[in-house]
Amino acid sequence: MPHPDALHWDARYACEADRYSLRSPRHLITSHLDLIPGGGLVLDAACGTASTGRYLAARGRRVVALDASLVALRLAQKKVKKETPAISFAVLDMMDPWLPEAYFDVILNFYFLSRPLWQTYRRALKPGGLLFFETYLREAGRNSAHYLDTQELRLAFDDWEIIHYLEVERLVPSREGTYRTRWSAQLVARKPE
Ligand SMILES: C[S@@+](CC[C@H](N)C(=O)[O-])C[C@H]1O[C@@H](n2cnc3c(N)ncnc32)[C@H](O)[C@@H]1O
Repeated sequence: MPHPDALHWDARYACEADRYSLRSPRHLITSHLDLIPGGGLVLDAACGTASTGRYLAARGRRVVALDASLVALRLAQKKVKKETPAISFAVLDMMDPWLPEAYFDVILNFYFLSRPLWQTYRRALKPGGLLFFETYLREAGRNSAHYLDTQELRLAFDDWEIIHYLEVERLVPSREGTYRTRWSAQLVARKPE
């Protein structure tokens, strides 16, 4: 039986392949590139077309990119052939997966929310490893399973070194072809040695 998240996202990526393929890497990464160790192993979780993972792979990092949508991963793979082989892809349900312990130097989690996964990230990062996390804050009437509460992310990792935490207003495209503002939380945190 197809996974419901995969079905939903496969359809979105199939409808707007060009827009998703041409996405820029996330600014939280491009603005903190110097923190990410050269040759380090990076997990791009719920990577979509892996614009951020591909950006890092093109800059000497080894990247494992995981997502439920095979359509997204195929779009990502097409772009990679022209760029760099230092990235591998796999289809995986990231809601609550098993990941190896103390394995990754860096974990990226952009615009995907599964709270059970936070414990997995805690274990899967090496001591001294970095978590980059950004996703939407909840607006009135929205399902809290998909959105963070204000300060929730910071509190969840307040036993780590918080390098950056910000709640930012972003302009996002709406279905009507215009833009509207939404709030996101951004975190860069280092696991204790
Ligand atoms: C808003 S997109 C974010 C993509 C990418 N991280 C980025 O920065 O643009 C959300 C992604 O989560 C993926 N996703 C949704 N549910 C998932 C699940 N249960 N397991 C793995 N990936 C999932 C979708 O396929 C989609 O690629």
